[in-house]
Amino acid sequence: MELPLTKIVIAIDGHSSCGKSTIAREIARKLNYIFIDSGAMYRAVTLYCLRNQIINSGIVDRDKLIAHIDSIKVYFRLNPQTQHNDIWLNGENVEDEIRLLEVSQNVSPVAAVAEVRHLLVSLQKQMGLQKGIVMDGRDIGTVVFPEAELKLFMTAQPDVRAQRRFDELTAKGETVSYEEIRENIIGRDRYDETRDESPLRKAADAIVLDNSYMTRDEQLEWVMNIIARI
Ligand code: DC
Repeated sequence: MELPLTKIVIAIDGHSSCGKSTIAREIARKLNYIFIDSGAMYRAVTLYCLRNQIINSGIVDRDKLIAHIDSIKVYFRLNPQTQHNDIWLNGENVEDEIRLLEVSQNVSPVAAVAEVRHLLVSLQKQMGLQKGIVMDGRDIGTVVFPEAELKLFMTAQPDVRAQRRFDELTAKGETVSYEEIRENIIGRDRYDETRDESPLRKAADAIVLDNSYMTRDEQLEWVMNIIARI
């Protein structure tokens, strides 16, 4: 398969829990590109907010968050054991903690704060300057990299997504209810799609991938075929 000789930018957006990061990571591995999970950055800021009582019962203390914003340092570092870029928050590897359901349940209002988005979007844009990057999120093809050579918009049926996330969390030993996860996924989509700041939208030139009934290998093959035609 012929792959692009010059490095490109690949933007992957879409609904919650439909496997964006999994496929993005695999594409990056195949192309020897950098993979960036932008959601991890919003999750890390949310963890900071939870730890510092900036979010309580789902309500963000916006003034307090803005007062703290310069103290929130979020960055990626290569984990030599897994060869993955783990997310760090102020000198601490928080890769595992940001996946807890409590963070998922609080991330939407934090991600809706304009100052948080400005901070993270500017970091993300810098990461793409050299190209050769696959980034997934909600506003990557619309705001972060509107000039990306390839934009995908991923989705899957809510029940399929909830089951996958339930299996993933229970495999990690978390005690969670399927209903709670389903509600969280649907709620986050609604929140992401209706917020004022960079709402989740399919970019006009994005290609839709509904992976409800596709295996990982099928998805990867589908995307790699598209990349080969760029
Ligand atoms: O991809 P994820 O589910 O880990 O993302 C967590 C949350 O962060 C998601 O509910 C919406 C928000 N997010 C965002 O607003 N913009 C992005 N580029 C990535 C994530």
